[in-house]
Amino acid sequence: MADSQPGSQHGAIDSVLNETRVFPPPAPERAGTPRWLVSSMDEYRAMHARSIEDPEAFWAEAAGELHWFEPWSKVLEWSLPDAKWFVGAKTNLCYNCVDRHVEQWRGEHIGIVWEGEPMPGGEPEVCRLSYAQLQTETAKFANVLKGRGVKAGDVVTIYMGMVPELAIAVLACARIGAVHSVIFGGFSAQAIADRVVDASSKLIITCDGAWRRGKVVPLKQNVDDAIDKLDANTVETVIVLKRCGNQVSRADGRDVDWHEQTNAASDDCPCAPLDSEHMSFLLYTSGSTGKPKGIQHTVGGFMVYTYLTSKYVFNLIPGLDEPKRDDAQNGQVFWCTADVGWITGHSYIIYGIMPTGVPTLMYEGAPNFPGDDRFWDIVQRHKVTQFYTAPTAIRAFMKWGDKHPKKHDLSSLQVLGTVGEPINPEAWMWYHRVIGGETCPIVDTWWQTETGGHMLTPLPGVTPTKPGSCTLPFFGIDAAIVNDQGKELPKGSGGLLAIRKPWPSMLRGIFGDRERFIETYWSKLPGMYFPGDGAHTDSDGYFWIMGRVDDVMNVSGHRLGTMEVESALVSHESVVEAAVVGMPHEIKGTGIAAFVTLGNGFDPTDDLKAALREHVGKQIGAIAKPDQIRFTGALPKTRSGKIMRRLLRSIAAGETLVTQDTSTLEDYAVVAKLQESEEG
Ligand code: WTA
Repeated sequence: MADSQPGSQHGAIDSVLNETRVFPPPAPERAGTPRWLVSSMDEYRAMHARSIEDPEAFWAEAAGELHWFEPWSKVLEWSLPDAKWFVGAKTNLCYNCVDRHVEQWRGEHIGIVWEGEPMPGGEPEVCRLSYAQLQTETAKFANVLKGRGVKAGDVVTIYMGMVPELAIAVLACARIGAVHSVIFGGFSAQAIADRVVDASSKLIITCDGAWRRGKVVPLKQNVDDAIDKLDANTVETVIVLKRCGNQVSRADGRDVDWHEQTNAASDDCPCAPLDSEHMSFLLYTSGSTGKPKGIQHTVGGFMVYTYLTSKYVFNLIPGLDEPKRDDAQNGQVFWCTADVGWITGHSYIIYGIMPTGVPTLMYEGAPNFPGDDRFWDIVQRHKVTQFYTAPTAIRAFMKWGDKHPKKHDLSSLQVLGTVGEPINPEAWMWYHRVIGGETCPIVDTWWQTETGGHMLTPLPGVTPTKPGSCTLPFFGIDAAIVNDQGKELPKGSGGLLAIRKPWPSMLRGIFGDRERFIETYWSKLPGMYFPGDGAHTDSDGYFWIMGRVDDVMNVSGHRLGTMEVESALVSHESVVEAAVVGMPHEIKGTGIAAFVTLGNGFDPTDDLKAALREHVGKQIGAIAKPDQIRFTGALPKTRSGKIMRRLLRSIAAGETLVTQDTSTLEDYAVVAKLQESEEG
């Protein structure tokens, strides 16, 4: 196997393995939860065994907890790599997130709690939307979409800040079977243009701007710039929500105002009964080529799997089966700090959480605005019970210091979660001690855009945890460590992570690229899904993720392809050739190092480095700006012309962030010669 990205392990996993500290699950009363849904490891093992031996019965039962307009004729039809779950059934994601609660008797209960960012000096801006309000708002906005010609199966692009209307837009698409493609607000105009073209999307929903650390990110301007890059009339409609009050242009006939439209729309728009396999959304993610790929998800299987993982992994017990009572949400408030622009936001802000009936909290802005304690202030004020974030954020909190969380009462917390990248044991311990008060279980959830939901994860209150390990498979997941040929390796070995059975929320394809779908996920290992991660198990069979084994970097928990950044660099007039590798980074986990060869007439100056960083920011987004750029006369290559990435990785890892000779030309070709025999 290829070597994994440096930095993703923080060099600490081995040391922890040596002392393997096991944290037993706390009793429910210590963690403040009414009870744990699964009560023992024996129960987990029995449920897991059943889910593997008789998946159809297991998933039929899970699906039975949700609403279907028409039942399935078969639970699973599987012909690798194509899965169909709940064949022939009809359902609707928006119905299960919103309408169902209203139909049952919980219309006045809160579905979404939202907090805005602006507040220097003022009161926090909070909005609580009941399921009944959400039903009205999603129906109205669905009618707006219909009025602009959107039909089931059409792709709607959403590029908004974290406002409640973002959830409404997503759910309105789900209501009528439109396929949403949400683009993270940190992506650039070029990235928007690429995605709009790939998905042939004719309608974009955006905001004038988004609040971020007290400043306005000009979303509408970015959309305008993206449209300028496209053929005329590609985009027919832009719906603009006013949020920040910044000046934006308004193109006649094309641009319409969110509120003008919704005020005039009827609130009568029943949820469309959609085929279980209907495409619910596309989400673009980075792979090992220059071009992000549109991952396709479904309605039925995606819904059932994200619902069941939400329920068990976060121990959500809203008490829906109990007689009508005011506290039927059991006082739980779930908060996932991701942006809806990533899969984590799709699955665990909206689609998996809302059907449970526990309110989901959305926060608009930065974790350190106006102060470094903003998140803990939110936890305290909203009495958050489940808190789900990324290791990169935890490392930043650690750095800002214990005094910020210590200012706040965090005793409402029942479960803590992490996602997106391997968590280093130091960060895990800090999370456990300072945020969890040593009584909250931590669920380290391993999964991907492609998997739709959690794959490897502890169950809170059940699974003994070890800092840095995502522990064991969720129900229905058959995971193994295999070698290059797909042969299973014994417990305790390292190799490639593989998933050997289909699961309901697995991706159904890469939009418009069947070949790449098969090539990327289904060709490396015979008969199995290949996620692209290296991992090992320990003697308890616990999984430890080592990081990507392909050319994908995990920067602050965000996926970026090395080739994507390289393509952005070489599109600059000064660059002849570029090689990008990951390097260890204290906060981001993996930082980006770029080795760049310049064309004749371009000087290797610090100004040019700054210009190149800006250029990458424009091509992709700020998250892709290299942390380090080194100019080199030539890139180190093997005799057969392959760039020696491993050598570049060790050069990048061996240096401090700011080198002494920032603007001199370095020559790695010499080092390459010395290393060549070793690297091959
Ligand atoms: C990495 C995010 C270690 C992994 C949900 C995977 C993790 C990629 C973990 C997917 C974890 C995610 N421990 N590594 N708990 N969770 N990863 O598609 O390399 O943005 O392949 O999905 O993140 O990133 P994606």
